[in-house]
Amino acid sequence: MLKRPLLIAAALCALATPALADEPGPGGSKPPVARTGEEIYRTYCQACHMADAKGAVGAGSFPALANNPRLGTTGYAAYVIANGRGGMPWFKDMLSKEQAQALIGYLRTHFGNNYKEPVTAADVEAFGQRPSSRF
Ligand code: HEC
Repeated sequence: MLKRPLLIAAALCALATPALADEPGPGGSKPPVARTGEEIYRTYCQACHMADAKGAVGAGSFPALANNPRLGTTGYAAYVIANGRGGMPWFKDMLSKEQAQALIGYLRTHFGNNYKEPVTAADVEAFGQRPSSRF
């Protein structure tokens, strides 16, 4: 009676082990991968656009993404983020399509922006340029 659940548990552990090896753990050599829109924003964007997305003016001029009517067009944000512009770096070879979709969706529905229309696969076509950048 007692043996079967234990066997199943042991089998599940054996199956789970290879996947665990790919996950970054505490003290592991790989940094954690940013997956949600918020994580991606914190990792790649907030250094310039600030935590509240209100931008900053100082050593450079970083436009606010908060309450930004330009985010009303999915294609505009996707274009600037993919290709960069002026003092902004490009991200098409750094973010996967999935990350770009999550990030742009997040920006469009946070920081006072209220654009609920989903970001489509066509919007993020330019991303994921280097296969090695896909997570
Ligand atoms: C190194 C600083 C820097 C980083 C990092 C950065 N940006 Fe920017 N961003 C800028 C600057 C500077 C501009 C203004 C560019 C111009 O118009 O000349 C800008 C412009 C933009 C615009 C256009 C805003 C408008 O009103 O036209 C968007 C959208 C944007 N950034 C989103 C992002 C996102 C999302 C990220 C993270 C993936 C990001 N940026 C990372 C500096 C940065």
